[in-house]
Amino acid sequence: MRKTTERRRRTATRGRGVLLAAGAVCVVIFVVAAVLALVLPGPAEEPGSDLPGLAESHGIKLGVAVAVDPLRDDSDYQDIVTDHYTSVTAENTMKWEHVQPERHEFDWSGPDTMVDFAEDHGLDMRGHTLLWHNQQPEWLAQGFYDSDELREVMREHMEALVGRYQGRIDSWDVINEPFEDGGPELRDNLWYQTLGEDYIAEGLRMAHEVDPDAKLYINEFGIEGGGDKADALYELASGLLEEGVPLHGIGFQGHFVHGDVPEDLAENMRRFADLGLDVEISELDVRIAEPVTDEAISAQAEEYRRAVEACLDVSRCVGVSVWGVTDAHSWIPEWFPGYDSALPFDEDYQGKPALGGMVEALRRDRRSPGRPAPGR
Ligand code: XIL
Repeated sequence: MRKTTERRRRTATRGRGVLLAAGAVCVVIFVVAAVLALVLPGPAEEPGSDLPGLAESHGIKLGVAVAVDPLRDDSDYQDIVTDHYTSVTAENTMKWEHVQPERHEFDWSGPDTMVDFAEDHGLDMRGHTLLWHNQQPEWLAQGFYDSDELREVMREHMEALVGRYQGRIDSWDVINEPFEDGGPELRDNLWYQTLGEDYIAEGLRMAHEVDPDAKLYINEFGIEGGGDKADALYELASGLLEEGVPLHGIGFQGHFVHGDVPEDLAENMRRFADLGLDVEISELDVRIAEPVTDEAISAQAEEYRRAVEACLDVSRCVGVSVWGVTDAHSWIPEWFPGYDSALPFDEDYQGKPALGGMVEALRRDRRSPGRPAPGR
């Protein structure tokens, strides 16, 4: 009997000892976990995580050019747009040939889809584009209008398109690619041929009359690294501002070739910003010559990082937009045969190192020196 009691007592004591030891182990595990949580980075994140939040913390837009069809029926495409970007540009659907395929016959199906999508998802919308030499319908390209008629055509188009989305589209590329490809001469386009150099000021004034709140841009390529063409645009922009023409910003398209992204992008943008203009990288892509190697894809990340950093380095740079959602939708293979893989998402909709490059740029000091507070 006493033996049994003694055994029970010893067993109970042993049981308490085991419990105490287990408790101590739990405490140690808890403390170690808490310390590790403090000193180690959080769980591995996919490279594109919270790009919108990061962009907003710097007060810039991160945009993407979108196409209508996948915006209607490809939910993976839509998810990439809404998970990674804060702004959209119409890649094609707001161009003349789509909006006004016949004179006075407007097709709003594409633009409406896009503007509704942007609004439903809280995205900013860039309007693209009004006066350009490409993607014009035949009736316009071959219309042989005299100057008064052409002004009338311009006004009808702007009133219809800019007017329809007044208050819903924040900025418009009013003048697109006004200089010859190699510059520095003004492009000999339909508008120039009929109205002379003044088509630029007239176009900006007309757009401003239709939507006085929209930011109006000249959008150009081949100016990102300085040079004659950039100088000519600088002269043009300065002259327009002196005359009081409503020009609010310059879009640096940023269609780059891998290995050839200018080092002085920020410096070139800052020159225009110092005139009192907003600037943005409006159509960023970095095309890689085939065969595309893993090495090139990794190195491309640095180029995307540099492009976004350049924007952060210029206080009036309002955003960076990439030109297409995935490599499956990019204009590059068709327009630049022998090149591919220009965007931050691959043909299988997977994020590439380039996406990580943009994240890295945006993760530097939350508020970059010299930038206004977000939302201003
Ligand atoms: C391109 C589109 O991406 C293509 O799908 C289309 O076939 C041609 O135009 N500069 C611009 C854009 O301002 O409108 C162009 O977009 C690319 C070059």
